Amino acid sequence: MSISRLLLLPLFALLLSACSQEAPPPQSLAGVSAASDLCEIPELALDEHSDNPLFQPQVQTPLKALDPLLANVRARQTLSLNGDWNSIVDQLGVGDASPLLRGGVGENESYGPHELLEYSFKGQHTLQVPGDWNSQQESLFWYRGIVWYQKEFNYQPPAGKRVFLYFGGANFAKDVYVNGKLLARHKGGFTPFNTEVTDYLKAGKNAVVVKVDSMSGADEVPTEYNDWMNYGGITRDVMLVETPAAFVRNYKLQLAARSDSSQKPEGEQRIKGWVQLDGHKGEQSVTLNIAEAGIRKTFTTDASGRAEFEFGAELALWSPESPKLYRVDWRSGDDQLSDDIGFRHIETRGEDILLNGKKIFLRGVAMHEESLLRHGRAANAADADAAIAKLKDLNANFVRLAHYPHNEHMVRAAERAGIMVWAEMPVYHNIQFSNPCTLASAKRQYSELIARDQNRAAVILWSLGNETPDGEARNRFFIAMAEHVRALDDTRPLTAALLGFGGMEDIGRYIGLLLAGEENALVGMLTSFEPPTITINDPLGDVVDVLGYNEYFGWYLSGILTQEMRKQGLDVSEDQVRELMLQEMENFSIVTAFNKPLVISEFGAGAKQGKHGGPLEIWSEEYQARVYRQQLKMLRNSPALRGLSPWVLKDFRAPYRLNTDTQNYWNRKGLLSETGAEKLVFKELSDYYKRLQNPGLLATQP
Ligand code: GCU
Repeated sequence: MSISRLLLLPLFALLLSACSQEAPPPQSLAGVSAASDLCEIPELALDEHSDNPLFQPQVQTPLKALDPLLANVRARQTLSLNGDWNSIVDQLGVGDASPLLRGGVGENESYGPHELLEYSFKGQHTLQVPGDWNSQQESLFWYRGIVWYQKEFNYQPPAGKRVFLYFGGANFAKDVYVNGKLLARHKGGFTPFNTEVTDYLKAGKNAVVVKVDSMSGADEVPTEYNDWMNYGGITRDVMLVETPAAFVRNYKLQLAARSDSSQKPEGEQRIKGWVQLDGHKGEQSVTLNIAEAGIRKTFTTDASGRAEFEFGAELALWSPESPKLYRVDWRSGDDQLSDDIGFRHIETRGEDILLNGKKIFLRGVAMHEESLLRHGRAANAADADAAIAKLKDLNANFVRLAHYPHNEHMVRAAERAGIMVWAEMPVYHNIQFSNPCTLASAKRQYSELIARDQNRAAVILWSLGNETPDGEARNRFFIAMAEHVRALDDTRPLTAALLGFGGMEDIGRYIGLLLAGEENALVGMLTSFEPPTITINDPLGDVVDVLGYNEYFGWYLSGILTQEMRKQGLDVSEDQVRELMLQEMENFSIVTAFNKPLVISEFGAGAKQGKHGGPLEIWSEEYQARVYRQQLKMLRNSPALRGLSPWVLKDFRAPYRLNTDTQNYWNRKGLLSETGAEKLVFKELSDYYKRLQNPGLLATQP
């Protein structure tokens, strides 16, 4: 029998056994206690390969649950794992398959010259972390799927200490392996997570492998269909965080909500909060020191390591005019942790938003998490400072961080600069509102965001979502989300950006009659009518404290109205409708059916920077600026208006945008171009906000 035949025998044996392998047993329901637990069971991947004996799907289950989030990690001893990571693009998602890939890429096996292993990180393919892969490699620009990342590093685990692997964020689904062991699984592209690795690190060479799948799913938050680029990858900082065996894991330190009748007048404030230890044995004392405010308190935790407290304090309050931060020091056993925290009241009263008891007007803009310094996701302090500089140039005191939690650098930079923040969860457009897994995902992501930003004075509003269609399931979803968020933090009002198509019919009828009047003098003479009033009456108005409203009068509406009118047999042209709309919109008024503050969370128009033209020339800077002028006049007629965040600070990548002539996959509604060049509208808005800063003008009315 020839050698080659001899060699084939074991292979046949192997193939035979593989073919005869039963289909993998149905997912064990071990550990399923609540419906939402079902959500965590990974779908069997690769089933399209299941008939291929070499690529049998493996269900990898993390060795442990995620650890609760550590607070303020940058104030701890850390080892940054940022920089070049080796990478493997796994387009078909076979990286977990065996037997060909043995235990899968996560095992990060090395192999000798006589061993066949069909994956390796040695190919010098690297990706920068933090960073999205789409803007790093031309070939990955449109890539959505799985990429495996590997980082090798030397490390000496500190004696007697604990070590956590911390991710600021990575989009979307991640499996995290440390030295070949799957330790953590996380879903959600915009919130931090960490896992304890004390027992899995070794002295010398270590390796972390992360499987990142940028595809979310129809039952996820967000889904795949969004008007922004689904940037994939490890988009935020990664670090090892060292702590003593027992340490301060998280804390909340804010002013008690003023509705608490016990609240003393101006000057004397009530600080309310809690501190949570980790690794302590039984009750433990914790000291809080705010030296500058003459505060030194010692609390004793309960057996679970938690202490709740409330006490009086004389404090200078945080505000845009004076973004005062206090150095706060926690001490417990061998642990010491500092933070810079501002204290302020934020509340609503009727149609007013009150900061430290005073009425305010939010002079803002909305922005996506894209860098002004290069293409791709913003990820570091320099990106944040560049954005803050532009907000200052705009005379803004407010920013809507859309449509998902932005990185911590941005929130802390806003806090230092006195910029108030609207934070949002990507419950965007149509998600599976009646799916318990979708709700569980949204709740978990919000818990992670609040665990990270609950002490940020700049964060004044928690937004539950954006432009979601009215409906029973949607309303129930938001009610559940509101309950969840309020239970975690009762010191900030809730909001949501409501869909602004209400009143469209009235506007259509009004413009239609005006046009008919133009056509036919008699009609013009006979018909007199009031400019329309748009009433916001979305049932979510009962759930949130501040109403956000997105409206695009002067942009989308005219095109839609023209088509509608033509269907009705009216011989009108879009420029006729658009011209009339622009002229007339200053007479429109937007009111709400709720005695609550209104923030126009989006309005705007597109323009290609450098394109100039007449007042009706779409995509010209002149047209965009004209829409803003008319919008700002119109919004004077909105008695409940307490803030603005026009759409959007900078042109951003958006696969929805197919006009390859002017948009070229950019949403062009920026006040700045994709490279940060100012369009005419930037000055239009900054001059307007400058005027609003003039105390002569009513703070609450533009
Ligand atoms: C919507 C939406 C944004 C989108 C914008 C636009 O209102 O909230 O995400 O980019 O409109 O159409 O430009």
